[in-house]
Amino acid sequence: MKDHIESILLDQDDIREICKRLGNQIDEDYQNKNPMLVGLLKGCVPFIGDLGKYITIPIEMEYMDVSSYHGAKSSLEVKILKDLDSPVKGRHVLIAEDIVDTGFTLTKVIQLLKYRGAASVEVVTLLNKEEGRLTKMVPKYIGQEIPNRFVVGYGLDYNQKYRNLPYVGILKQEIYE
Ligand code: IMP
Repeated sequence: MKDHIESILLDQDDIREICKRLGNQIDEDYQNKNPMLVGLLKGCVPFIGDLGKYITIPIEMEYMDVSSYHGAKSSLEVKILKDLDSPVKGRHVLIAEDIVDTGFTLTKVIQLLKYRGAASVEVVTLLNKEEGRLTKMVPKYIGQEIPNRFVVGYGLDYNQKYRNLPYVGILKQEIYE
């Protein structure tokens, strides 16, 4: 698979350092708040697993699976494929994402969790593509800013492949063109 990758953006050491830094920040900010860490499937899996190792305060881990689609009047809608197992009412929720691009998906999920009565909803993302943003979504915790290129690995896929790569790399354009 490595011959499908143009260049590596984050290797395993980089990812470990990012998870440590984010874990320490989350520890400080969520003392005594018993946060719920909500992973968005499937891309969050390696990230939430590694991040969780560096969070030392008590947390609950939950998962949601959502898919975005263009509904009527070209508004973006989110369909819940797997919902949370526990209520969020009164809880401090921290959503763990692999990458934030346009921000549409997270905007909808945040709206939903606030509507359900979460005390706070913030986002921790491994990668942020600021150039791709089409919403006002601002993740509170960002692992790494990246250019507006298509990346795979460490949970991120192209056609459901490459999620198992231990690094994040730019996919060669010829693979998806
Ligand atoms: P957004 O609603 O545009 O922010 O969508 C974010 C979702 O799009 C992520 O959770 C990924 O599933 C997908 N995505 C965005 N950029 C990439 C990329 O470069 N590689 C793989 N998936 C991506």
